[in-house]
Amino acid sequence: MTQRVFSEQEIMSDHPYAKAHEVHGHRLHGGFDADGNYISPRTLVREPAVDTWADALRERGGDILAVDPVVQDLPRFPNYAQMKLLLREGIEKPLWNSLTIISILEGRGRFIGEQPWPDLQQIIVEDVSEMGLGHLRKGLLLAHGLDEGGEPDKGIGAHDVMWIAVRDLAFGPRDYATPDAAFGNVDRERLVPEIAEPYEGMIRFMMTLLMIEYAAAATFDFNQRLLRDVDLFTDRRTQAEEAAKIVDRICQDEEIHVSSLRTFLGELASATIKTLEGGTIAGREVIDRLWAEQMRQTTVEQPKLRREREESELRKHIRAHPDAARIEAEFDALA
Ligand SMILES: [Fe+2]
Ligand SMILES: [Fe+2]
Repeated sequence: MTQRVFSEQEIMSDHPYAKAHEVHGHRLHGGFDADGNYISPRTLVREPAVDTWADALRERGGDILAVDPVVQDLPRFPNYAQMKLLLREGIEKPLWNSLTIISILEGRGRFIGEQPWPDLQQIIVEDVSEMGLGHLRKGLLLAHGLDEGGEPDKGIGAHDVMWIAVRDLAFGPRDYATPDAAFGNVDRERLVPEIAEPYEGMIRFMMTLLMIEYAAAATFDFNQRLLRDVDLFTDRRTQAEEAAKIVDRICQDEEIHVSSLRTFLGELASATIKTLEGGTIAGREVIDRLWAEQMRQTTVEQPKLRREREESELRKHIRAHPDAARIEAEFDALA
């Protein structure tokens, strides 16, 4: 019989590594096998476990949550050619800042594992002990949080430190001020008043997280192309290539985040949810309602807000250049 119930210790377990993961003076999570292949942290059991839960979900007639690939293809500001122009003109702050902000946001991800999340079993009719849902507070979210924010008390860095390594390998030491990464919270209207607020809040948070994780693939690719572009970082090509490899490892680590989130949100969609009034509502209805709003936020609202936030800042960097008028004209022509 297939094992579907795992202990927290099993979920958190690492592969035996042949070599530790160390870059640019940082001790990092994960490690390498004897052939030098990178292995993501805490995936020895977690990875096959997620596959097992996804298979079981399909056997029950459900499926993992579908994500529209359009979210990996949203317009980016600045676009690739624009960012390349800036870097070639020596305007490096926009990319330096953006890598720093990614590191800060990844570091905040540690809270995913520290938050006292409510127990979804309380609102689900079916027994979730053999599902991903039954393991969220049994290692699944803890592992996720550590993958993002690391274990500073043990001196082990995760994506937070990896992005700093990427940045510093590419640019070399810089004493720029740390950019502001406070984006403010959106006030949210209740969309599923049939269930108690903490549960709706948790499901929406997990959906936002899935969207960020899924869309991040495009950001990783964007940064990697810049790092591997032979016209850029010309005096630091070796370091920039190494930085691109670190991005590969981050990408690899994120796969389990996407698959585990899609799986347990898919499990929720196929479950029966208990309402506050003592009745039930189909999980599908709850998930569809929340996901539609999440898609709207991701594809319409957030790109607008992000652009407003970033454009004036970026133009300030251009205007500080002695040849600002020419560069800004070229920048606009590349839009
Ligand atoms: Fe991450
Ligand atoms: Fe992640």
